[in-house]
Amino acid sequence: MDYFGYRDSELWAEGVRLADLADSFGTPLYVYSAKTIRRHCRAFTDALDGLDHLICFSVKANGNLGVLRLLGGLGAGVDIVSGGELYRALQAGIDPGKIVYSGVGKQDHEIREALGADILMFNVESIQEMERVGQLAAEAGTVARISLRINPDVDPHTHPYISTGLKTNKFGLDPEEAAGAYRMAQQHPNLDPVGMDCHIGSQLTQIGPFVEAFEKLLAFVDQLRTSGVEIRYLDLGGGLGITYAEESPPLPADLGRVIADAVSGRRLTIILEPGRAIAGNAGILVTKVLYTKTTSTKTFVIVDAAMNDLVRPSLYHAYHHIDEVRPKGRAKKKVDVVGPICESSDFLAQDRLLPEVAAGELLAVFSAGAYGFTMSSQYNARPRAAEVIVDGDQVSLARKRETYADLVALEM
Ligand code: LLP
Repeated sequence: MDYFGYRDSELWAEGVRLADLADSFGTPLYVYSAKTIRRHCRAFTDALDGLDHLICFSVKANGNLGVLRLLGGLGAGVDIVSGGELYRALQAGIDPGKIVYSGVGKQDHEIREALGADILMFNVESIQEMERVGQLAAEAGTVARISLRINPDVDPHTHPYISTGLKTNKFGLDPEEAAGAYRMAQQHPNLDPVGMDCHIGSQLTQIGPFVEAFEKLLAFVDQLRTSGVEIRYLDLGGGLGITYAEESPPLPADLGRVIADAVSGRRLTIILEPGRAIAGNAGILVTKVLYTKTTSTKTFVIVDAAMNDLVRPSLYHAYHHIDEVRPKGRAKKKVDVVGPICESSDFLAQDRLLPEVAAGELLAVFSAGAYGFTMSSQYNARPRAAEVIVDGDQVSLARKRETYADLVALEM
């Protein structure tokens, strides 16, 4: 459920016309709905009501400071995967005591920065990394709270590029190895093994793989307790899918129910790391039609947004719904929606039925609030798009459009 919708024959973001935003800020333009972000965040906190819990929004989905501030204001923490994301989170005023740090390749300087900030915990992904965190914590004269990321070998039934909980993936430790690692951590004076975590993949549309993973982790938590390791935080990662087209993924409330059932009676703080489910359908990319072109085989709608702005269609063949900002009721035609970049992989949609749009008209690319701007680049020397946040009838420019000068600012 989001707050983008058609009224008076045009598309609105909450109380603001998208066409007016395009006039004021230009295109391509990312538009986020604050009300939608709040609603989705609350859906997770409500889902875990009754359990000790913490929602750690995954910064990689949308790291805009305005978005992070909004979520921080609702009491959320964040899941980070780099020193840069830590920096963003701290800049946005996120409580360090609500930051968890995941990722297989944490560098020394990043670990030191996170220790310095006194984050809630490191989600450790290998024994070497655990030793490194221990050593750097010792050098800093502190104790690092850690959780071990378990690879439960569960098939999430999603795109292979975003499956992470299979034995063949680079993520996490297998439970046998982790059992030894917990014993090592317990004996280390600078490590406090307080948690266990997993993240099996992204854009999951079935509940089964989650349940399978939770059950494996809880069995492991119980086994550790008998050997004297008391897990206090169980971080079940992110991954809940959203509706891009016809998918009907479980709701946060469904996830909450299976977690409550599985956890039954154990004293654990549950952490979730949703990214897409909070931000995905809270954002739209607005783009302008530049030209249309019909060849002997296809019709192309050439727009001013490209794979540098939204790479998901090119990278994962992902579907993003596209519609007119001001529908005119024209007949539909099968088209490719493409950008100006010099690659045939530069498309936002292929063989898509769209009304016969004309140059100068605006299109909205839906479900672009997660892994949209964060995966954007300057490829083809295209300055990155601007981002705005709409809240009711209030509009705030959350990130200025980059300029040509920005393209060369760091070059000597
Ligand atoms: N926690 C960890 C450790 C993760 O690796 C991820 C996502 C999340 C949480 C958040 O997952 P979510 O709730 O958003 O599914 N670029 C891809 C998605 C990559 C996801 C990577 N990890 C895409 O555009 O579909």
